[in-house]
Amino acid sequence: MTEGVRIEVTGPVAEIVIDNPPVNAIGRKLRLALVEAFDAVEADPAVQAVVLSAAGRTWPVGADIREFGLPPEAPLLPDVCNRIADCEKPVVAALHGNVLGGGLELALGARYRIAPEGTRFGFPEVALGLIPGAGGTQRLPRLVGAGPALDMILSGAAIGTERALEIGLIDAVGENDIAAEARALASEFATLGQEAYPAHDAERGLKDPVTFVEAVDAARARLRAEQLPAPARIVDCVEAALLLPFESGMAFERAAFEDLLASPESAALRHAFLAERRAARVPEASATPRDISHVGVVGGGMMGAGITSSLLSAGLRVTLVERDVDALSAGLAQIAKTHERAVAKGRLTPAARGEEWSRLRGSTDLQALAPVDLVIEAVTEDEEVKREVFARLDGVLRPGAILATNTSYLDINRIAGATQRPEDVIGLHFFAPAPVMRLLEVVVAERTAPEIVATAFDLARRLGKVAVRAGVCDGFIGNRILTAYRTAADFLMEDGASPYQIDAAMKAYGFPMGPYAAQDLSGLDISWARRKRLAATRDPARRYVAIGDHLCEAGRLGRKAGRGYYLYPEGARDGQEDPEVLALISRGRLEKGITPRRVSSEEIRARCVAAMANEGARILEEGVALRPSDIDVVMLLGFGFPRHRGGPMQAADQRGLLALRNELRGYAAADGPGAWLWQPGALWDELIKNGKKFASLNGD
Ligand code: COA
Repeated sequence: MTEGVRIEVTGPVAEIVIDNPPVNAIGRKLRLALVEAFDAVEADPAVQAVVLSAAGRTWPVGADIREFGLPPEAPLLPDVCNRIADCEKPVVAALHGNVLGGGLELALGARYRIAPEGTRFGFPEVALGLIPGAGGTQRLPRLVGAGPALDMILSGAAIGTERALEIGLIDAVGENDIAAEARALASEFATLGQEAYPAHDAERGLKDPVTFVEAVDAARARLRAEQLPAPARIVDCVEAALLLPFESGMAFERAAFEDLLASPESAALRHAFLAERRAARVPEASATPRDISHVGVVGGGMMGAGITSSLLSAGLRVTLVERDVDALSAGLAQIAKTHERAVAKGRLTPAARGEEWSRLRGSTDLQALAPVDLVIEAVTEDEEVKREVFARLDGVLRPGAILATNTSYLDINRIAGATQRPEDVIGLHFFAPAPVMRLLEVVVAERTAPEIVATAFDLARRLGKVAVRAGVCDGFIGNRILTAYRTAADFLMEDGASPYQIDAAMKAYGFPMGPYAAQDLSGLDISWARRKRLAATRDPARRYVAIGDHLCEAGRLGRKAGRGYYLYPEGARDGQEDPEVLALISRGRLEKGITPRRVSSEEIRARCVAAMANEGARILEEGVALRPSDIDVVMLLGFGFPRHRGGPMQAADQRGLLALRNELRGYAAADGPGAWLWQPGALWDELIKNGKKFASLNGD
């Protein structure tokens, strides 16, 4: 056996088994082994038909993403696919699991494809800023037509066996021992010849050019507003399948693939994919998680209700506790509304809703939490209130139960100190709306036991969320960087930009909304309360922008009040610009003697991203985050940082640390009392001195 591949010959059939755990990703060694295996079976006169199968839980899920950043080494994946397609002996692909990306391209090289029920087929490359680069855009449209091919490649979404059979992507749906079935089929080919079986041939001519052109035109029209480069290249390549001979089409596709591979967008998207998985590597990962089947939630406000919905849809039992019947009813009504929407959108069947609802209990008595395995507290963001809840929970919960707080800023060590069991206390910081947002910040306090951390990561997986480990500090990872971002934006506003210009610039960078529209949405009073809390300890020599406070004092608390930075007449979703706000900002500048200057959109983006990366560097220096890519995951999944920019630390790496540090120094020098925001820490110098990037600290 060559590495990653073995050959088993039974009579006239040779089975080439791909075996490269955990997901059979196709790296260079596997590519080489596959070519050698096909050479060997072709040269073996006893072999008359070939089965290509995969061991383990899945058929190859694609090219090895970790190799994408390295120089390509022969044989390339298109060579391997062509080798399979050119095999003189019939090849049956026995598929199972996830047949994705380069894995699906391998399968398209075979003459015949079978798969058991439950197999998934897809081209996820677009999510990595890429296109299929090993014949996918050439063979798939020839096989299934341009319409279904474009749907699959542009959406990146996987299809099931039924649809795959319907469009002709596979030739038959088999039973579970798919390799045995493939061997039986191959041995019939050996005796009867494969002509006896009408197979779909991925390299045949196109049967309906008119429909093909229509599908290409329709896809191109749909992409008019698309900002990223990959989708347009996908359409061009699929069109090339019609316009060019097969070989030229393959070369055209390869050139497009290589262009995209070198693009910053693809680098960032691949970084995001690996970063989300890397986040699970925490020092506590080897501890044994505790069993969690029944969770208590304290507080049925927006967060508590959202967390409850999320727990219910993951199959857990939940007891929700509120302080009185009215608050409890409001919380339950909120959960019912989430259910209602899911049913209306077809994401939940009425029966499944009934089943979820049957796992939910409501109570106004903390004693109801006596049997639970874990409590998540989501009451008012006030340390004293939370400490009191924790002290009372300590008296109610059984030994071994976990106490979690959903605080977004507070000191969890102090909250844990209100109990007799600080080792069982942890922060589980969910993001609103909890059923939708994929991020869970797991905040590890000084005395939190390793198995509690392991349990939190396990729970996140069950909830379909990505957990990121954070240490205790004001705002943990995400809200701390958010504060730096908003401060940079406020400085710019005071210097001369309007909040509307800042929002537009950050939207153009890729955020779904700008910082001021986002503050209006969450309510300006939340951060106002926090600023008031911190006012006593704030250094008066530091630059402080009070415009947000003035808005709140004028009753402009955001969308819920009908006005904040924007106006929301009669509950409008999108705010309108308001000259009153601009006047208020001008007054603020006047008070401080600031002459407004012209600020460009580029400067807004540069300063906001620089402030985020700089705060990220401080978070790393303090050990609050384990690695730079964890910070990126938090900002991508919790704060709308554009995925194709990879997160603030990746954006800093792409910009170049030396250039960015010098920019930060420049901002600091020019901004006297605001220098504290910009001053780069020692980590920048250390990385620059060693010619390294933040990525070098990711620990791969
Ligand atoms: N290349 C390299 N490694 C890969 C990989 C790939 N294409 N796909 C998955 N892996 C790795 C993961 O990084 C993870 O490694 P780790 O355990 O060291 O962290 C491991 O395989 C398991 O992956 P994970 O995503 O945690 O498992 P899952 O069962 O939840 O999901 C998939 C499996 C295949 C659905 C998912 O991994 C996926 O979508 N992979 C990407 C497929 C893709 O984009 N292919 C196109 C590339 S051309």
